[in-house]
Amino acid sequence: MTITAVSIAAYVIASLLFVLSLAGLSKHESAKSGLTYGIVGMAIALVATIAVVLERVFDLDEIDVKLIPILLLFGAIVIGALVGLWQAKIVEMTGMPELIALLHSFVGLAAVLIGWNGAIGGFDGSDVVDPGKNLRSLTNIHEAEIAIGIFIGAVTLTGSIVANLKLSAKMKSAPLMLPGKNVINVGSLVVFAVLTGFYVAMDTHADQTAAFILLGVITALALFLGWHLVASIGGGDMPVVISMLNSYSGWAAAASGFLLGNDLLIVTGALVGSSGAYLSYIMCQAMNRSFISVIAGGFGIEAPTSDDTDYGEHREIQADAAAELLAGAKSVVITPGYGMAVAQAQYPVADLTAKLRAKGIDVRFGIHPVAGRLPGHMNVLLAEAKLPYDIVLELDEINDDFDETDVVLVIGANDTVNPAAAEDPGSPIAGMPVLEVWNAKDVIVFKRSMAAGYAGVQNPLFFRENTQMLFGDAKDRVEDIIAAL
Ligand code: TAP
Repeated sequence: MTITAVSIAAYVIASLLFVLSLAGLSKHESAKSGLTYGIVGMAIALVATIAVVLERVFDLDEIDVKLIPILLLFGAIVIGALVGLWQAKIVEMTGMPELIALLHSFVGLAAVLIGWNGAIGGFDGSDVVDPGKNLRSLTNIHEAEIAIGIFIGAVTLTGSIVANLKLSAKMKSAPLMLPGKNVINVGSLVVFAVLTGFYVAMDTHADQTAAFILLGVITALALFLGWHLVASIGGGDMPVVISMLNSYSGWAAAASGFLLGNDLLIVTGALVGSSGAYLSYIMCQAMNRSFISVIAGGFGIEAPTSDDTDYGEHREIQADAAAELLAGAKSVVITPGYGMAVAQAQYPVADLTAKLRAKGIDVRFGIHPVAGRLPGHMNVLLAEAKLPYDIVLELDEINDDFDETDVVLVIGANDTVNPAAAEDPGSPIAGMPVLEVWNAKDVIVFKRSMAAGYAGVQNPLFFRENTQMLFGDAKDRVEDIIAAL
């Protein structure tokens, strides 16, 4: 049995493990085993791929010709492993989304390079086993794979870089509103389809220069489109963009799999592509957004009206007064957001919860589906602080209970509790379901300033009659309240 035959079996096992991994990761209880399946699958895939490459290299005649690919292969593995380990060690939980976006950009870059490699290497049909097949039509398929692979890869590359810059606040999160942005997006797709048609129809062997120029234009167009698609999407819709780029990176990998004739890459790419697309769809439903509109770079979304409304004065409260309010309450709801993650306030929040519950006060948590910067971000933090699962409720489970709640503690949340989403149709976050905390008797907002949230939208909640601001780092202020209690 050859190594190639064994590797095919290994690829099938790895593919099955990836399917099990996805299934496991979809539930809290099975997430750990899902992760293990994924790691084992990836290890098998890596070993099998290295073995196949080495088998091909050892078939070469000259020793110095053998050495170069071996050095390249192991050099790339060592560098990749070191960078991966270093990043995994230093990344903060709050920095995860931008790291994921950066990793997606690598998949996009790899797909572009593999596409160009396929174009430069040409296709002579030498690996076509069936001589009865029409070689010209196979060459056409190969050329279409090259153009499509480069296109998806380049869109993923620049789109992910923009997502990384937006998530790390190195670029403004507000949507870019170029005039005729929808025409630009749709027009780019049409031009890509026409250019690909030309590329496939031309004789790329006879006229290499023209073929490379055409491919260069396709690459440049896709790089531009990736940048424009993500730059056009506002901060509030970024969660969908991350899962959408995840999906694109899967399709880019699948396209590379077709070019390289690697079945595992095709299967894995399709798994990532379809699960990412489904996640984007679920998120769009949760946020009341049109799926098509978001994947088409905010298609149909008009420029938000500028907000120069005078909301009046806000009121402040100090920790001891907040403690008094809490001590007199019967029911308390805590709605955490990104600021709780920044302040690492989950541990004092858990202490405060235990103290209040010991006094017989009903304390529950309301978790918005996009609170924080990652799906499930708040759940992970609260689980870390060992808060019981049964008092942690989702938006739909708690939203009707606010009018019977005495005190709501908004800890580092902003966009996810913004009444403008429900009440102002001109707001960039209009239509997004939010936690309706303003229906409670008293609302205390923990944050450091009057600054806007991630979507860059002013929050009228801060100026409501029943809202009081508790300024400062969320962890310090919660500790102050515990001390006062
Ligand atoms: P945000 O709207 O991001 O607001 C967080 C608030 O926390 C800020 O207003 C900030 O105000 C405050 N804060 C920061 N550090 C703090 C600290 N140390 N102590 C106290 N407060 C602090 O939060 P959110 O309500 O969780 O909404 C999430 C936003 O991120 C949404 O727009 C969502 O679409 C977007 N997003 C989510 C995801 C996922 S999947 N969850 C991914 C990408 C983007 P100060 O600066 O004044 O303190």
